[in-house]
Amino acid sequence: MFDLTGKTALVTGSGRGLGFEMAKGLAGAGAHVLVNGRDEGNAAAAVTRIQESGGSAEALVFDVAKEEQRLAALASIESAHGRLDILINNVGMRDRRSVDEISADDYQALLQVNLTSAFVLAREAAKLMRRRQWGRIINMSALASALGLIHGPSYASSKGGLEGLTRMLATALGPDGITVNAISPGFFATETNAEMVADQALGEKLHSRTALGRWGAPHEIAGAAVFLASEEAAYVTGQVLTVDGGCEAHF
Ligand SMILES: NC(=O)c1ccc[n+]([C@@H]2O[C@H](COP(=O)([O-])OP(=O)(O)OC[C@H]3O[C@@H](n4cnc5c(N)ncnc54)[C@H](OP(=O)(O)O)[C@@H]3O)[C@@H](O)[C@H]2O)c1
Repeated sequence: MFDLTGKTALVTGSGRGLGFEMAKGLAGAGAHVLVNGRDEGNAAAAVTRIQESGGSAEALVFDVAKEEQRLAALASIESAHGRLDILINNVGMRDRRSVDEISADDYQALLQVNLTSAFVLAREAAKLMRRRQWGRIINMSALASALGLIHGPSYASSKGGLEGLTRMLATALGPDGITVNAISPGFFATETNAEMVADQALGEKLHSRTALGRWGAPHEIAGAAVFLASEEAAYVTGQVLTVDGGCEAHF
């Protein structure tokens, strides 16, 4: 089960954090993984780590927020590989400022990165996936969509939008054998969250309202991605798979 041999996968923002762990997981299941980020050195280092663990990977450097770059990236996948089977829209910009601190321009800029890029990449990926009548698109949401947090209005909106887009695309692309799902992570101890992880008071608060009583370890996201990308998830579409140690469930 969960064999991805022969599949080509693009994971955006996979130089570190959850994106890296999902890329490594897909490669471990046999997929050839395109590791994306804006910084060539970061992407190359991630590729080396995946190769050292026995996986197949290469770097695909582009900024998901830039229309010409994302279209060129998908075109390069078509010419180099002739296929794209799995797309994980993982890039997610944070803006944890409060309601009064965010201008309309700030708000739009975040939506461009988190939401518009996911739509455009999914649309272009689907053109390649349709040829084989098989595809997997996975959008990275966040608990910030389901829970009312006090900060980050644009981030929460982008993740809510991604979940709506997931259901819409699942419906539109289902007839072509393409499934579209989202993963909603809770609180993970990634590099980006290092400051939060170091904050003991915050840790205690989060642990007290998480069923498993701890931060998620970054590698604990990989299984959800491999499952949703696999043949075994062929009849799962339009869903949000929450991976949060029981944070949303905890009252
Ligand atoms: N960590 C958590 O606890 C958590 C919780 C809920 C949801 N999430 C979601 O999970 C996803 C990953 O979060 P993360 O914290 O693991 O990773 P992250 O630290 O936010 O970033 C991962 C990678 O994204 C790349 N990146 C950023 N902007 C990019 C752009 N415009 N184009 C291409 N690459 C870009 C960065 O590489 P370069 O600098 O080289 O571009 C970086 O290596 C996000 O969507 C986030 O909202 C995370």
